[in-house]
Amino acid sequence: MSLTGKHIILGVTGSIAAYKAAVLCRLLKTAGAEVKVVMTPAAKAFITPLTMATLSKNPIAVEFYNPENGDWHSHISLGEWADLLLIAPATANTLAKMATGVADNLLLTTYLSARCGVAVAPAMDCDMFAHIATQHNIDTLRSHGVTVIESPEGELASGLHGKGRMAEPEDILARVEALLCPDEKKKSLHGKCFVVTAGATREALDPVRFLTNRSTGKMGYAVAAALAARGARTILISGTTSLPAPQGVEMRHAESAEDMYIAAKEAFADADGAVMCAAVADYTPVEVSATKIKKSDDDMVLHLKRTHDIAAELGKIKGSRLLVGFALETDNEAENAAKKLRKKNLDFIVLNSLRDEGAGFAHDTNKVSIIDSATREDLPLMSKRETAEVIVDKIDFFIKRTDSEK
Ligand code: C5P
Repeated sequence: MSLTGKHIILGVTGSIAAYKAAVLCRLLKTAGAEVKVVMTPAAKAFITPLTMATLSKNPIAVEFYNPENGDWHSHISLGEWADLLLIAPATANTLAKMATGVADNLLLTTYLSARCGVAVAPAMDCDMFAHIATQHNIDTLRSHGVTVIESPEGELASGLHGKGRMAEPEDILARVEALLCPDEKKKSLHGKCFVVTAGATREALDPVRFLTNRSTGKMGYAVAAALAARGARTILISGTTSLPAPQGVEMRHAESAEDMYIAAKEAFADADGAVMCAAVADYTPVEVSATKIKKSDDDMVLHLKRTHDIAAELGKIKGSRLLVGFALETDNEAENAAKKLRKKNLDFIVLNSLRDEGAGFAHDTNKVSIIDSATREDLPLMSKRETAEVIVDKIDFFIKRTDSEK
């Protein structure tokens, strides 16, 4: 049985999909897990505590204490007991409260005090699901490291068709198994911490204008997702992008090159390595106007100063930690990439060339070469996700080699 010995708190909230929580509870038990159910008061209107208690073979907790005898339900000890807090179904209301730290029922206090992993399976009407507030809350929860088990498209209780129904119990079980029992490859970076920078920085000229570049952040986000999937604590320092936070990744936003420099240095202090994917501005305006710059009939000259080279700064202090850089070159690619490798003290550098069709900014594919002090590996055109897997394989190899030399 795949979940033998695993402790799961199954949180049930007030959605019509609560009836599926009964099936889910059974599946978890059959897979060998021990299950304790915490219901919100609203959930009791959809499924009875007796049903859930019978299936989980444990008493149900709803209130902070038992009104009959004053027995206290400790959310702290529940959180300590669990390997996973799984909230299925999770209503828009509960997701919003989780995202903002509201603690007005036992399930929410358990969530706020839980040290274990947390997964949610949203369930609601398609318009509620699509609402910008709900999507924002889901993104926030992802950025807090919560696993969101995607709602599939389909028939809803309201009679409408769309996204918002709860994932099927069998699919939720599969995600729980993947979370609690990842295979060897997935676990290979467990206990390690990596910093990833991604996206473009913005250098303000005045309150409304800034200098930036064409980076979308896709490659960096894919690398962060691949690191997190292998069990590494992953801190993604991102410029402004339109991408959703990858699952299990801690997000830090950085607007300017200086913001990114400060955030990267701070996060690198406790990290085992860093992957510098961001397209960081090399220059920033010497002066930022406090008011909108007025146009005149004359040409305008901008006075720019150098920013910190974050990769090079981390290279100076890295010691035996891993440092990976990216290079985007338009000419003398390999030669320039090799120079950067040495100058910034990188362990390896990922070179993309703007000459290759389908590679570089905004594409979902990339064609890169991975260059270290001794070897060069030319990869074919692949999705950025696949490219990230190869990069993370190489990171894995370097980390194991360093560990074996210790
Ligand atoms: O020197 P160049 O900008 O081409 O180097 C690219 C590499 O250096 C990338 O890994 C990029 O993230 C990193 N970099 C940086 N800080 C800068 C400029 C580049 O970390 N200011």
